[in-house]
Amino acid sequence: MEAAAQEGISVQDEAVDKSKFKECNQIAFYRRQKLLHPGKSSYRALLDSVTLSDDNVKFQIIHEENKVLLQVEIWEIEGNIFRLKINEAAPLRARYEVLDVLIKEPATQRLSISHKEAGILVLKSVNEEYKLQVTADPFQIELQSKNEIVLSMNSNGLLYFEHLKPPPSASKTTAENKEEAASDSSKEKQEDLGLWQEKFGRFLDIKAHGPSSVGADFSLHGFEHVYGIPQHTETLLLKNTSDGDAYRLYNLDIFGHKIHDKIGIYGSVPFLLAHKPNRTSGIFWLNSSETLVDISTKAVAEHVPSRSTAETAKQRVLPRTDVRWMSESGIIDVFLLMGPTAFDVFKQFAQLTGTQALPPLFSLGYHQCRWNYEDEQDVKAVDTGFDEHDIPYDVIWLDIEHTDGKRYFTWDKKKFQNPKRMQELLRKKKRKLVVIVDPHIKVDPTYTLYSQGKDKGYFVKDRNGQDFEGICWPGSSCYLDFTNPEVRKWYADQFAFKTYKGSTNILFVWNDMNEPSVFRGAELTMQKDAVHYSSWEHREVHNLYGFYQQMATADGLIKRSLGKERPFVLTRSFFAGSQKYGAVWTGDNTAEWEYLKISIPMLLTISIAGISFCGADVGGFIGDPEPELLVRWYQAGAYQPFFRGHSNMESKRREPWLFGEKNTRIIREAISERYILLPYLYTLFYRAHTAAEPVMRPLWIEFPGKIDTFGVENEYMLGNALLVHPVTEREARTVSVLLPGSEEIWYDFRKFKRMEAAGTLKIPVTLENIPVFQRGGTVIPLKTRAGKSTEWMIDISYELRVALDAEGYAKGELYLDDGHSFQYLHEKQFLHRKFTFQKQVLSSSCRDEKGQYRTTCIVERVIILGLGLQPMSVTTCLKDEKEEVVFTYDTKTCALMLEKLALSVGADWEIHIK
Ligand code: NOJ
Repeated sequence: MEAAAQEGISVQDEAVDKSKFKECNQIAFYRRQKLLHPGKSSYRALLDSVTLSDDNVKFQIIHEENKVLLQVEIWEIEGNIFRLKINEAAPLRARYEVLDVLIKEPATQRLSISHKEAGILVLKSVNEEYKLQVTADPFQIELQSKNEIVLSMNSNGLLYFEHLKPPPSASKTTAENKEEAASDSSKEKQEDLGLWQEKFGRFLDIKAHGPSSVGADFSLHGFEHVYGIPQHTETLLLKNTSDGDAYRLYNLDIFGHKIHDKIGIYGSVPFLLAHKPNRTSGIFWLNSSETLVDISTKAVAEHVPSRSTAETAKQRVLPRTDVRWMSESGIIDVFLLMGPTAFDVFKQFAQLTGTQALPPLFSLGYHQCRWNYEDEQDVKAVDTGFDEHDIPYDVIWLDIEHTDGKRYFTWDKKKFQNPKRMQELLRKKKRKLVVIVDPHIKVDPTYTLYSQGKDKGYFVKDRNGQDFEGICWPGSSCYLDFTNPEVRKWYADQFAFKTYKGSTNILFVWNDMNEPSVFRGAELTMQKDAVHYSSWEHREVHNLYGFYQQMATADGLIKRSLGKERPFVLTRSFFAGSQKYGAVWTGDNTAEWEYLKISIPMLLTISIAGISFCGADVGGFIGDPEPELLVRWYQAGAYQPFFRGHSNMESKRREPWLFGEKNTRIIREAISERYILLPYLYTLFYRAHTAAEPVMRPLWIEFPGKIDTFGVENEYMLGNALLVHPVTEREARTVSVLLPGSEEIWYDFRKFKRMEAAGTLKIPVTLENIPVFQRGGTVIPLKTRAGKSTEWMIDISYELRVALDAEGYAKGELYLDDGHSFQYLHEKQFLHRKFTFQKQVLSSSCRDEKGQYRTTCIVERVIILGLGLQPMSVTTCLKDEKEEVVFTYDTKTCALMLEKLALSVGADWEIHIK
């Protein structure tokens, strides 16, 4: 290994050291904002300035002390969304506004004035369901839905806006400057406030444009459960931050990060959801600079206005959650998503930032990764190992060591003498390769990517206008400026087969270290005063860096296929909207039980923030899992969206067959279960892609009225049909499972047995598997068996698992296409079927008539759970043909099993049970 890389590793090891990272109170803009306490806001709205257009409503607000005017704009966006922008009316220079995250300029609707009186302006939405009440003094906005106050802004008076100023030396007379310099205390104060520069350890951040922090508070009325704003190693339910650190949204590479910490790791989505039994709402704070979020929930006495003169006004005590957003720079651009259901909120967020890209089917299979698979022989041996042990897998991964000295897009010529030959071997096995492509570029004039990048001026600059250089795996490196569209295009072109030597169309990409990670940088990232395209400082775009790299990479993979094939790109760093470009994972976790446990709320949080395709390293990246932990992790991972085993360079080898026969068998079964489940999972991804429904869901989303589900994070729903409860304790003999909903029926997914009742049950467990339950009322499509990889499984027949509800009813669906191209989109080459069980008849019908895809695949097996009576006969009906079929009925479990069927997947048919 190269000296530089070694140095890199040791830097990483040191990074566990918390002193490398800031505590909240070491962040200057946070300290400045915290000087403003809840109370009467200094902002007053100038309601005389109101203008109303087809598009929006505009008015100005003034700060009573500094007299600076801010421009407020309010839009109503189709589908129950409101947008609020606040910027300086006449800024000294333009302030940064986030680009490329919104998929299009949102379609607006005309707000109208419902009422205006001295000091109050009431606007109403097109459908008259929502009212926005703007109060002038102090400036406040209240959003009501049919007279219920849902949300208010600036009700705690924490609206904060640092207007841009000329540097002190320019605006003051020399005498004033001298006087200030002479006063030590004033200098100290300046430094403490970090207005024009800020120190952290040996790092100095020079703020060429001075302070520009923005912030605002929102009160969520009646809500005490809030979620979202990944990524933190925290609980699903957001915690009160009154006595501690705020949630930090700042993408950082923290090797061996602690659990239950509010520091930002790797990716940020500034999107928060609030839920109460009859309503879900969302706040999307569109700002890509460092952001801190304070949360406090309290019970407040609210005044309920009397409905008539006879009735006296009442007080009632209601919960309220106050959320205070504080960003280092930019403007205030916030979207209020009014739901009213969680699924509405997901759609609203997707309407703004896009839906999950439909993954190629192979990427939903199992991925085998390690830092590193050493050479071609190693890859071959691992690949063979899977076949020898009869374990399905789809993708083998190559980490940084596969390159020529960490020069991405190249190969280590000794270890990988013939990468094409290696890929041909994998292709024959119907498997894929993923290689790592990091954003840092080794400073080496003989490396084309570097020399071209340098000549074209494509690297991020330091504050003096030189290419910014930082240390990463290759040693001294420059960082491509992905915020520049021209750089993105050039980068995308690097993936062309003729440019990326040794690559073939089975090679896909992993973007790592893209927070970006800079080993000797402040907090191990790029200094904020580095300069990007259009002269924007890094501080403005920090949280978008990884988002842009993945965008360019995905584009490159699409382009190399001439627009035909779906890409697969995994990224470590992400932002709102990253779902459009591929998958994310939770970074460097540790091989300990606690990390397995926390992976569930972490993945749920990412999922509800729009990114369905997410996973955590199975086994834990750092260290060596004990075999039991590894087995449990495989069992959990098999039921999570992105399923990859990965381990660190210093970890022992961890291929699934290295832990004794019994563990190998259990892991094989877990992975096989995953492959059998793929038709259901792929269908869920199609729903995520088309309807923004998260694949992995917290219980409360499926049971929005059941308060006992609101904080559950040790189990989850996969789609609407499966409840999964991973085992996260060593030597567990039982687990306590909540089966929600008193009127629901639940079935053991493997034993078919109907569970006695809903509620919290003690479920015995063995090492063999984890508890999974199917919800009554659902039909799940499965494959009848697993194959060596997804591509081997195309022709394998289907099973339908029908679980009846209390009315003897069930429904479900199956989405199918070629699994890799865009033909589903452009040529309607897909099949979308619907299955309904009603009045003893299971029917298969078309769910989307537009679908043209043909398949010869059949439904071979149908299992109906919860059928009260043994049938006399079972008949299949296909067009006019009727055929009696043999069946078995288990009187103990009430499961009816139909086998050896040959019902075409694409045809309409019925099964009649008498
Ligand atoms: C850090 C990533 O998080 C990890 O998964 C990877 O193996 C190393 N970088 C080396 O590339």
